[in-house]
Amino acid sequence: MNIVVSNVKGGVGKTTTAVYLAAAGVERGEDPVVLVDADRQASSAEWIEASPLEGVELVEAPSERTVARAMERHDGLVVVDTPPGDERIVRAAIERADAVVIPTRAGGVEFSRVVATVEMVPSRTPYGIVVCAARLGTNDLAQTVAWWEGEHVPVWGIIPERVAIASGPEARLHREGIDAYADVLRRAVRRRAR
Ligand SMILES: Nc1ncnc2c1ncn2[C@@H]1O[C@H](COP(=O)(O)OP(=O)(O)OP(=O)(O)O)[C@@H](O)[C@H]1O
Ligand SMILES: [Mg+2]
Repeated sequence: MNIVVSNVKGGVGKTTTAVYLAAAGVERGEDPVVLVDADRQASSAEWIEASPLEGVELVEAPSERTVARAMERHDGLVVVDTPPGDERIVRAAIERADAVVIPTRAGGVEFSRVVATVEMVPSRTPYGIVVCAARLGTNDLAQTVAWWEGEHVPVWGIIPERVAIASGPEARLHREGIDAYADVLRRAVRRRAR
């Protein structure tokens, strides 16, 4: 199964989401779990190099051709981290996705970028948003979730803002984070295109 993590906007939590989904996949017993880094910035690759995750195989694929090839395998779980800018690579990945996870933040300025990302998703491919670095209990978060529900965009997860998650590869993966992303993965797997 191919899960593509994408948002045309930068800095929303794509790489963090991709790494945690891969870790959640290992805990779920998916074998192999392949984390495909389609971003020339190589943030996922650097994360895994600095802090290897047992059971996660990293493939760097920063071009349309390489990402398409990396997504050809039919066993296990493939999680693809995509770049913010390069629309051709993003499209190449999204076209081949069984589900698309769209990280976003709370707050109105984020909506149009999510909609631009959703517009790239083929009509039969399921997608859901994940609100990253969320401040639980705030009006901003509640309004954001209500807005997406009103737009019939599924909210697959709300990931709390945590220092340990913000530390990236400098810290071990955060337990609460893995559990929250396990729920996202469950939703993505359940709704995947067959
Ligand atoms: N749940 C969270 N709690 C706290 N910080 C978070 C959380 N999720 C992501 N962040 C932080 O948000 C910032 C952006 O995250 P990340 O690098 O994953 O985004 P990105 O979309 O991959 O960025 P880019 O577009 O540059 O590739 C990072 O500093 C990351 O640590
Ligand atoms: Mg990134």
